[in-house]
Formats: sequence, structure tokens, C-alpha cells
Amino acid sequence: SGQVLEERFEAVIAAEQRIEPRDWMPDAYRATLVRQIAQHAHSEIIGMQPEGNWLTRAPSLRRKAILLAKAQDEAGHGLYLYAAAETLGVDRSELTEKLISGRQKYSSIFNYPTLTFADVGVIGWLVDGAAICNQVPLCRCSYGPYARAMVRVCKEESFHQRQGYELLMTLMRGTEEQRRMVQDAVDRWWWPSLMMFGPPDGDSPNTAQSMAWRIKRHTNDELRQRFVDMTVPQAQHLGVTLPDPALAWNEERGGWDFGEPDWSELKQVIKGQGPCNDQRVERRRAAHEDGAWVREAALAYAEKQKRREQ
Ligand code: ACO
Repeated sequence: SGQVLEERFEAVIAAEQRIEPRDWMPDAYRATLVRQIAQHAHSEIIGMQPEGNWLTRAPSLRRKAILLAKAQDEAGHGLYLYAAAETLGVDRSELTEKLISGRQKYSSIFNYPTLTFADVGVIGWLVDGAAICNQVPLCRCSYGPYARAMVRVCKEESFHQRQGYELLMTLMRGTEEQRRMVQDAVDRWWWPSLMMFGPPDGDSPNTAQSMAWRIKRHTNDELRQRFVDMTVPQAQHLGVTLPDPALAWNEERGGWDFGEPDWSELKQVIKGQGPCNDQRVERRRAAHEDGAWVREAALAYAEKQKRREQ
């Protein structure tokens, strides 16, 4: 009966085991996972655009090859994640449709412009650094396919983070102008990176239930704090200033105090009113439409193979 199924589900979660696609699960658990995994997949795919902006203008062949490899990794992450979402009974084309019609979200961070090549380094360092903080605990998510996808994604994200930091170290060893360029990029990306972790805990409607289901393992504020603590020493080593006058070591807590992000800005960006929202979604829609012939050809080919087998 329903109650037995529910109890079995709860027992699997309590025992730190994994829920697999064929297992019974509450409808709301399934819906939460579809929401989060789809949003995560969309973020990987949309996330290729800000960096893609610099592919044709990378300062050397080496930097171009690195950036191309990174953008390709992100496409791959999107694909693993759409595949993980499909194990929950949704269809990738349906998710894409929801993205381009604005019915599903993607991360706020990708709605900011990449104005200089230093932004490529800062995205690797701060944005991918924040992504790692958020995603390493998701390797222990209670839903098996999502947790397993995260293992590989996190390994590749670590590479991305290091390439960003190395790029910035190189710029910081360069000219005065290059150092100014790095500081300017840090000034623009710091607060949006903190917002990636989502609204403060008191304002996060999904956290409590997602923690009870062991989809999320930490609250938004816990992960934000972890990110700040990890990043401050890296900023010091790099020789940049994080644009927050409230940043101060708190001896008692053993962590860094920091200022309040502008939560109204996060709300605006999530609502679709960030600096680049329209452009990002429009470009995704155009790419989807331009790719229609590839999907048609793949379908026709698959049907031909099926007929041959028969
Ligand atoms: N950008 C866009 N939307 C956000 C953001 C953000 N930075 N933070 C929160 N939201 C949305 C949530 O999706 C939710 O909206 P919904 O209920 O309509 O889906 C709403 O704001 C309220 O937030 P929460 O209740 O805190 O939502 P949740 O528990 O899902 O936590 C979080 C948000 C932390 C982003 C979580 O979904 C998560 O960990 N996702 C997986 C990681 C991910 O998506 N990363 C993508 C960016 S990293 C990268 O790709 C490089």
C-alpha cells in the first residue's frame, strides 16, 4: 500500500542509501528533483555563452584551446544532467521548451556580461569555485543518477577553477593595466558569485524539505560562508581586493564575516531583468531553432535503422 511504499522510501533516505529511477518516490520529491536538475542543466548550457563571447578573441592559441575545452565540458555537463532528469520521466525537449519560454530558471550568474578577458579568469576562479562548493555535497544527494553525475562534473569543475586562477596569476604578473583589469573583473563578479548560492536561509522556501530528503546537504547560507572562507586567502595570494568593506576575520567563529549581498538585485535577475537575460534566452532559442535539422536528421536515421533491423 501507499504507506508501506512511503515508509520504505523514508528508510532508504534515513539509511543514507540511494533512491534509484525505478524506486517508488513521492510526487513532490520527483518534482523537486526535476526542478533542480533541469535548472542545473540549463545553467551549464546557458553558461557557455558568457565565455563563448571570448573564444574568437582569446589572446593566444593556448588560451583559446583551454577555453574551447572548458566550454565543451560544460556542454557535456548539461547532457549528463538532462539525462539524469530524464530518468525521472521528463523529456529533454520538454525541458528545453520550458527554458526558452521562461518557465524554468537557470543560474542568475550567467546574466552578467563578460567585458574583458580577465572575466574568463574570474569566472573560473569565483563562479566555478562557487559551483564546486555547491556541488561537492550534491555528490551525496539521495537521488542516485544526480549524485553520480555530480562526481564527474565536480572533477571537471576543479580543472576549470584552476585554469581560471592560473590565468589570473599570469595577468597579475603582467602590467599595471592587466592588474587593473583583474581587479575590475573581481569587483564586478564578487557579489553575483555570492548570490549563486540562492536567497538567505530565511527566504529560501525549498531548503528545509530538500534537506529533509537529503537532496541538499547544507543550507544556502552555510555554503556561502564556506565559499567566502575558501576564497579570501586565495584573493590575498593573488593580490586582489574583494569589494566588501565588511570583510573581517571573526576569531570566535573561525570564519570570515562579510557584508549583505543586494538581495533585490538577485530577485530582479531571477525574474528575468538582469543585464543579459534577454540576450541569453534569445541566443539559446536561436541555437535550438537552427539545430532543428540536426534533430530531424537524427530521428530519420534512427527510424531507418529500426526498419532495417525489422
Ligand atoms: N539563480 C537563479 N535562481 C535561483 C538562484 C540563483 N542563483 N538561487 C535560487 N534560485 C531560485 C530557486 O530555483 C527557487 O525557485 P523555484 O522554486 O521557482 O525553482 C527560488 O529561487 C528559491 O530558492 P531556494 O528555495 O533556495 O531554492 P533551492 O532550494 O532549489 O536552492 C540552489 C537553490 C542552491 C541554486 C539549488 O537549486 C542548487 O543547489 N542547485 C544545483 C546547482 C546549480 O543549479 N548550479 C548551477 C550554477 S553553477 C554552474 O553551472 C557553473
